[in-house]
Amino acid sequence: MSKEPLKKIGICADHGGFELKEKIKSFLKKNHFELVDFGAMELDETDDYPDFVIPLAKAVAANEVFRGIAICGSGVGACVAANKVSGIKAALITDYFSAHQGVEDDDMNIICLGGRVTGYAASEEYVEVFLNAKFIGAERHLRRLRKIQKLELKNRE
Ligand code: RB5
Repeated sequence: MSKEPLKKIGICADHGGFELKEKIKSFLKKNHFELVDFGAMELDETDDYPDFVIPLAKAVAANEVFRGIAICGSGVGACVAANKVSGIKAALITDYFSAHQGVEDDDMNIICLGGRVTGYAASEEYVEVFLNAKFIGAERHLRRLRKIQKLELKNRE
């Protein structure tokens, strides 16, 4: 993995993703990423993913962290919650191609994973390629994102 030590990465999980979060944290620390953990800080079967995902998503949208990793049991709830925050482009990732193409074409800034669905080794590969991918920024990509941003701005009215 290429080293990008100055880029802070936000991570969070509810109880459904807690174990995977801890695995990914070790993997990223070994690879010299600086991590900000938005919780959960311990396994609590009664916790709720929005309590962790929304603060993480706000931090990504405010550029307080470079990108985010949001994990719940399936990855679905995390993805739904993250995308409610203006400026967030989150996707539930279950394949290698989408993990980088989502950044390259769509400027994905949060990767969502299912702790009960996707194994450790595959998750690490998805996270690695997601963090190293770069938005291409071609006019067609920007045009599409502007259409989404227009809706976000309208929703604020
Ligand atoms: C929690 O049990 C589970 O519903 C949650 O982690 C997630 O899978 C929601 O999408």
